Amino acid sequence: MIFHSEKMQKIKPSGIRELFARAQGIPDTISLGIGAPDIQTPDGLKKAAMNAIDFNYNNYDQSPGNSKLRNMISRKYKNEYGVDYSLDEVIITCGGVELIYVALQTYLKKGEEVLIQDPSFLTYPHQVQLAGGKTVWMPSTSDFKIDIEKMKELVNKKTKMMILNFPSNPTGAIMEKKELKALVDVAVDNNLMIISDEVYEYFTFDEKKHVHIGAIDDAYERTLTANSFSKTFAIPGWRMGFGVSTAEIMKPILGYHTYVIANATTPTQIALANYMETEEAQEFQEFMRKEFQQRRDTIVDGFNSIEGIRCHKSSGSFYCYPDISESKYPTGKEFSDEAFKEARVVLVPGTEFGPTQTHNIRASFGSVSLPKIEDVLHRLTKFLEY
Ligand SMILES: Cc1ncc(COP(=O)(O)O)c(C=O)c1O
Repeated sequence: MIFHSEKMQKIKPSGIRELFARAQGIPDTISLGIGAPDIQTPDGLKKAAMNAIDFNYNNYDQSPGNSKLRNMISRKYKNEYGVDYSLDEVIITCGGVELIYVALQTYLKKGEEVLIQDPSFLTYPHQVQLAGGKTVWMPSTSDFKIDIEKMKELVNKKTKMMILNFPSNPTGAIMEKKELKALVDVAVDNNLMIISDEVYEYFTFDEKKHVHIGAIDDAYERTLTANSFSKTFAIPGWRMGFGVSTAEIMKPILGYHTYVIANATTPTQIALANYMETEEAQEFQEFMRKEFQQRRDTIVDGFNSIEGIRCHKSSGSFYCYPDISESKYPTGKEFSDEAFKEARVVLVPGTEFGPTQTHNIRASFGSVSLPKIEDVLHRLTKFLEY
């Protein structure tokens, strides 16, 4: 007997979660599959969480989130990007994923279209579908930016919003301020909302600075920024996300959020509010950025030294996205299946991230240490030997 609703009919299981499950318990497997840091949560933050429980912060908190934490987030945006968000313009959610889900549920009407880059974080199109909307894929340039001229042609009366994500999962690309401004102009000209997913804001390399889209002229009033502590403080399992926008955009999102989760977990909010102001927090962010840049250099150079693999240098996030079309396994799916079978290396086929992504694989260097990266490169070199 089938009990589920029709909206579940087109939802397929997450390929990444399947890969994750497949690698569990198989000895000598190295997974570059999952988008989570292998680095341990900093000690000060762990202690802050234990203290919060010990000091009995175990009750419900306000639905938009703990006021001290929202204050810290408001200060962060002022200090880092010069943008003012008042307390009612900040929300704490159950991961960045909950915020994007709730925003789509709140704002999308049936059949409205959402522009999403091909390739993108695989959750977006499923969430759009669950909200009754339709994904329209924005093509990428050869360096994985959004092709602005081509995207303009996709805008029509049904287009409601665009989802942007820089630094990008899965490609590691970032777009410069003037390029993002051109996207904002398209949004302004066509009265589109922007959801800007900036969960990798602290992981930018080679002195490149993150651009907060809400700080670009004309973007503020139409942008919801989704963010998260998952990657920044290596706590993906805590499910702590947050967002900023105008009070007008935020109000209905808050209404929906209240009936879904009531409030994000209380002790973890207290822990983060107390931890964010410490020196250790700043140092940890810088440590992560440096570590990921070093790993990026090793893995990208390593991939480019293997015959059949070509890899763009990621500018941010902790992913790289090599093209394997000149290898003996020319599709991402084949490559990923065979690399798992033959070399015990887990990589995600590009088709998980967008409909035209047959020639790439995503490798998460956030989830493996440098010695393991060296091992992966060695295994893949042998695996591809003709
Ligand atoms: C682009 C992007 N957005 C959002 C998320 C989800 O973050 P959270 O753990 O806060 O739900 C991820 C996680 O991989 C991601 O890559």
